[in-house]
Amino acid sequence: MKTTIYQAEDLLKPNTIKHLKEVIQTGGLVVFPTETVYGIGANAYNPDAAHKIYQVKGRPQDNPLIVHIDHLHQLNELAQAISQDAHRLIQAFWPGPLTLIFDKTDKVPDTITSHLNTVAVRMPSNPLAQMFIHATETPICAPSANISGKPSSTLFEHVKMDLYNKVDIIIDGGKSTIGLESTVLDMTTPTPTILRPGSITKAMIENILQKPIDDLSEMIHESPKSPGMKYTHYKPQGDIILIDGAIENVIKYLNKQLKKNNNDDIAVICAHEVSEQIHAKQVFDLGALNDTETIASNLFIALRAMDDMNIKTIYIHTFSKDHLGSAIMNRLLKAAGYRILSV
Ligand code: TXA
Ligand code: MG
Repeated sequence: MKTTIYQAEDLLKPNTIKHLKEVIQTGGLVVFPTETVYGIGANAYNPDAAHKIYQVKGRPQDNPLIVHIDHLHQLNELAQAISQDAHRLIQAFWPGPLTLIFDKTDKVPDTITSHLNTVAVRMPSNPLAQMFIHATETPICAPSANISGKPSSTLFEHVKMDLYNKVDIIIDGGKSTIGLESTVLDMTTPTPTILRPGSITKAMIENILQKPIDDLSEMIHESPKSPGMKYTHYKPQGDIILIDGAIENVIKYLNKQLKKNNNDDIAVICAHEVSEQIHAKQVFDLGALNDTETIASNLFIALRAMDDMNIKTIYIHTFSKDHLGSAIMNRLLKAAGYRILSV
């Protein structure tokens, strides 16, 4: 298969719009940028097209897909029993990085929900994502545009590396602004429940609903509510050592380790304040400690860079759970296999 690449300005051309619609309506795959990460999209009402996504990504069949919409009228075709709470959250956060889980309608094929009776829906705010969905005239089911197990793609170059000539079209939207996947919130439980933390935080949701909500994302379940919870994610080829402690202790520990061994295949991914104090050959500076937005937007780029540089040992430190910190720590813990070294 030969992939067509479109730039942002191409989406203003009628021929591009026609091509996007044709590809999606005939069961093809399109990679598109969103404000969180890139998605690999198909017609949500075409089970064969959705099946292709699983094949291309190497994704386990029991991990359901999020349906992306560009207009609220599409929500009623997909979901039922939409509560007052859900309407409040939609009002506050859509379009944006919040995925809501609802009871599904019969119109939603089992292939995309992995035979669950619920469906995940979100309305992205990225203008290119909106133009793409609008052009196709159908809801789009899409997981993150990466080979399963790798960090989600937040750069066009990542998408190209994983999916070039495996999909019909890639839309180049540059670097993803947020860089971490959407918050996933289950609205089918008596109390709304976070299944995956993202940039719409628990506090922001509770502030709109004026009541406490639940967060299941920190538990590793025997039978996870969100199938995606049980799979290895974000794991580079090298070993990740996740260090927890006061910043001075982290710096001291790193310099001690680096003194023993400072080979080319050892790297440190850290906040700016740490990067200035350590003597490693390979350092990836994520941004200032209190700037969680910048850290979030660079995290997957850093993890992917490790494989490009053939790094065998990767030191990273923990971050405070303020603001985006909870989502950052969720991804780091998964990448590190939930192992933490206290110093
Ligand atoms: O930001 C995002 O959400 C990106 C962009 C492309 O929109 N998408 C994304 O999709 O991260 P994916 O497939 O990588 O992650 C979707 C997560 C998975 O953990 C999956 O298990 C969960 O959402 N999910 C989907 N449908 C669900 C359902 N019906 N019930 C519970 N969890 C569900
Ligand atoms: Mg994913």
